[in-house]
This record gives sequence, structure tokens and C-alpha cells, in this order.
Amino acid sequence: MTTKIKIGVLFGGRSAEHEVSLVSAASVIHALDKNKYDILPIGITKDGRWLSEVNAIQLLRDHAPLETLPEHVLLPDPRKQSLINVSTAFPQAAQHIDVIFPVIHGTFGEDGTIQGLFELADIPYVGAGVLGSAVGMDKIVAKQLLERANIPVTKSIWFFFSEYQQNSKRYVADIEKKLRYPCFVKPPNQGSSVGISKAHNRKELLAAIELAGQYDRKILVEKAVTKPREIEVSVLGNNEPVVSLPGEIIPSNEFYDYDAKYVDGKSTAVIPAKLPKNIVKKIQQYAAEAFKVLDCAGMARIDFLVQKDGKIFLNEINTIPGFTSISMYPKLWEASGIKYPELLDRLIQLAIDRHDQKKQLKTFYTPKTDWYKKP
Ligand SMILES: Nc1ncnc2c1ncn2[C@@H]1O[C@H](COP(=O)(O)OP(=O)(O)O)[C@@H](O)[C@H]1O
Ligand SMILES: [Mg+2]
Repeated sequence: MTTKIKIGVLFGGRSAEHEVSLVSAASVIHALDKNKYDILPIGITKDGRWLSEVNAIQLLRDHAPLETLPEHVLLPDPRKQSLINVSTAFPQAAQHIDVIFPVIHGTFGEDGTIQGLFELADIPYVGAGVLGSAVGMDKIVAKQLLERANIPVTKSIWFFFSEYQQNSKRYVADIEKKLRYPCFVKPPNQGSSVGISKAHNRKELLAAIELAGQYDRKILVEKAVTKPREIEVSVLGNNEPVVSLPGEIIPSNEFYDYDAKYVDGKSTAVIPAKLPKNIVKKIQQYAAEAFKVLDCAGMARIDFLVQKDGKIFLNEINTIPGFTSISMYPKLWEASGIKYPELLDRLIQLAIDRHDQKKQLKTFYTPKTDWYKKP
């Protein structure tokens, strides 16, 4: 009898995308092969409490935790690799975990913070590491790295919100001169279009910057691509990533905002996207290159904007993409020949492979002399 792999599926979290994460995680839990995996659901409330098992399932189902509950934490102790019940704190109450599947979008889940905890705990986890998650999350830093790798991105300006508050006229003049209207104003570390606006004039620009400033200390303003086609590809792998067929999103609103993504149900997806072969090839090349440049691992969904004249812009990279059964990431793999449960198997194996490879690296150095013992 082979023993099953214990998978900790993590969801919820202190993020504007908390609800999206619950829906994604329910899908992942449903699709994981129960013959291969023992599933430990781990939910994180909006205020950051960790819950496990029945309490976690309660959060998943009812979107609200129980009033009284034992809290759990993952210890940053590589000898334990366990989730501890804080209320009892008896080591025997600890639950060993083989692999963590973080299905948390946005802040504290997709941005490298929680990946740091997994590294400290020395547990394999699905998806990008600390660096890839952090740079993938920050649209400003990601753009700078992509530009250096000659991957085309939209023209943009960024500044600290605090700088803007001191001298708004200067930044508005700069935006109007270099980018013009319409432009997109974004808090660089969000997702699901939260805090993003399309500004058509100065009045809208001012309101858009104030809104974005509620979500981030930095503001990104981009030149708008006119009537872009929104093309997405899925990437899978570690050092040799493979790229899926492209899909196209046809948003129901003027742009693909939160409501168009989740609420009104009117946006549609065309899989595979109808595009000339040379454009598909270029997009796939840019995606594989971006995955490497941004130090991604396991998975990413990479989104492009394609202008009428065929010009391609890499818009953003999502290191923990939506995972519902109708989400683009698994759908694109399905269209490319990998079914959802098999995709999960592959992602878990990639997490184990990456952890094994890292394990072989030295984390110590033996000095030739005991120089450090000298006074
Ligand atoms: N420069 C741009 N030109 C045209 N449309 C854009 C631009 N930037 C963003 N958008 C629109 O806004 C949506 C959300 O922006 P995006 O950068 O993908 O943020 P998020 O990470 O929240 O998904 C995109 O899917 C697209 O519809
Ligand atoms: Mg997006």
C-alpha cells in the first residue's frame, strides 16, 4: 500500500480577493484525487486567523468562521513541518503536511509573504517562491524587469502616493504630456481589478489616483491600449516552462473590471483564441521568457493586450491564477490536453521537485579556521 500525500490546501486570507480564493479552493479540493491525496483544508480569515479541518470547511462553505474555534499556525520550524493547534499547543496535536497548495490570491498569499513562511517551515509548496511571487505581484517592478528583457509592456509612469499628495500638479502634467487620456490608474499590488480605473479626463484621473492610493503606497499609470484584445496563456513548469494555447476574454464592461470578472456573468471566453499563428507564437515566447525573467515556478497565467495592428503588450502575470473549474488557467490546459486533476498532480510534483532541488544546495559553509572564536 502506498501512503497518500498529505496536501494542505490554503485559502481565504487577508486580501481583497478573499472570496475569489474560497471559490478557487473549493474547486481544487473537489478535483484533487482522493486516492492519491489526504486533504487538509486550511482557511485564513479576513483578519488573518488560521483555521483547520471542520472550521476551515465552515469558512469555505458559509464564508464565515465559527465564533469559538481553535486557531492553528504553521511553525517556522523545519523539524516540525506541522500545523499546530494553538489552543492546546500539544505537539501530538500537530498535523504533518507533505505539500502546501496555496490558493490565495493577492496580498499575503500571492505576494511572497506566505511563501516565506513555507520556506522557513521547509515544506514544498505549489507555485512561485518568495522572489517570483513578490515581483509578479508588483506591477511596477515586474514591468521594469520585463522591459529590460525586451518584452513589450505599455508605456507608464509610477510614483509614490505621498509624493503625489505633496505635488499633484507635477504628476498630472507629466501624465497628460507623456501618456494622455484615456489612461489606466492602478495600485500595483492588487488583483481582480480592485482599485483600478480608466481615466478619460483630468477629473477622472484625480479620482482614480485617490482610489488607487487607498490600496497601495505606489501608483502606476499606464497608457491605455485602444480597444485591446485580451489574450491569456497558462504556463506550467519550473526551469523549462511550457505554455498553453491562448484564450481570449471578451469583457462585458468597458474594461475587464471586478464586476465583469465575477459578478455580472456576461464576460465570455474564447478558447482557443482566434489569432494568426505568428501572434500566438510570439505570445507563447514572451510568456515563457517572462516566466523565467520574473523567477516564477510551477504555474502562472500571463495576460496580454493585443492592439488592432497586432502589437502585443504583456499586461500582467498572475502567480496564483483563478482556479475555479471555469477559470482560464485550468481551462487553457484542458484545451491544450491536460485535464484538471492531472494538472493538479503535475503542480504538486513540480512543488516536490523544486523542494528536492533546493534541498541539495548547501546552506552552510565551514570556514578554514575558527576565526569567529577569536576575541
Ligand atoms: N494599459 C491598458 N490598456 C487597456 N486596458 C487595460 C490596460 N491596463 C489594464 N487594462 C484593463 O483593465 C483590466 C485589469 O487590469 P490588470 O492590470 O489586469 O489588473 P488585475 O491584476 O487587477 O487583473 C485588464 O484586464 C484590461 O481590461
Ligand atoms: Mg488582470
